[in-house]
Amino acid sequence: MKKIGVLTSGGDAPGMNAAIRAVVRTGIAKGIEVIGVMEGFNGLSEGLFKQLDARDVSNILQRGGTILRSARSEVFRTSKGRKQAFENIKKEGLDGLIIIGGNGSFAGASVFSSEYSVPYIGIPGTIDNDLFGTDFTLGFDTACNTVIEAVDRIKDTAASHNRLFFIEVMGRDSGYIALTTGIATGAEEILLPETATNVVQLINRLETAQKGRKNSSIVIVAEGDDGGGAYAVAEKVKEKYTQYDTRVTILGHLQRGGRPSAIDRVLGSRFGHAAVEAILNNKTDIMIGVGNGEIIETLVADTISKTKPLPQHLFHIKYDLTI
Ligand code: F6P
Repeated sequence: MKKIGVLTSGGDAPGMNAAIRAVVRTGIAKGIEVIGVMEGFNGLSEGLFKQLDARDVSNILQRGGTILRSARSEVFRTSKGRKQAFENIKKEGLDGLIIIGGNGSFAGASVFSSEYSVPYIGIPGTIDNDLFGTDFTLGFDTACNTVIEAVDRIKDTAASHNRLFFIEVMGRDSGYIALTTGIATGAEEILLPETATNVVQLINRLETAQKGRKNSSIVIVAEGDDGGGAYAVAEKVKEKYTQYDTRVTILGHLQRGGRPSAIDRVLGSRFGHAAVEAILNNKTDIMIGVGNGEIIETLVADTISKTKPLPQHLFHIKYDLTI
């Protein structure tokens, strides 16, 4: 192994830059060249390569986004696109790849590796925290902190006006951000893609909150919730529940940006370092993760086929703490 490529793919996440920096510097420290592949898998298919030295990754640890840019590549979904990628990898002399991304990125990497046997190691980078094989993904902690700050601000105005707020957070398939931030902000209700939304039950809870002399309420809604998102649920509640003045806030992509938290900077650094060590030890088709604080490795085949359950201990305390 003399030369490896590193790329970021799928939705960007705070902490990706820390991981890129760690890959580049660990690679150089161990005597190999590191090439940055621009724009995710598109960069492989189009040959968008850039040699990275230690100084190229100076001053990026504290920056959100990804200096390599990212994409949800359509071309790499085609066998022609993957063939072009393989030819570019050969031309550039890359012996392996470090892929920083989420489920879709690893599914693509897995198909590519089965067709062309290019060794690769995955690093979990997505704010959704929905990857089997790691307690935490890069960006999740920062995104939760961003949501918490926004909800705290909304709570000030909600309480001043006796309002009911529906706040939509990211998570197309996973309620990790919603559940975590719902607990951290004391939301009266948390609606998740993993559980069926029952509007009657929701209204009962809001009424109980009002009877308990609460003068405002917050409902956190994951974007993938089966109720159809914050606007749809708010409409249904408004029809039957007229006491409150309701408002909806969609936090959207502001959750993806911003300076990474201490946790994401350290996690990105550890993941990047571990990924280079793994590829130099001739490992492939695995994702680096963290379990009980330690670096762990999971087969990508398991990561993409298994579902990470939501933390049940949070369900357990959810209602008792918002009476
Ligand atoms: O996968 C991360 C994520 O932020 C999801 O929570 C969200 O549904 C999606 O990406 C949004 O993706 P896009 O970048 O295509 O807007």
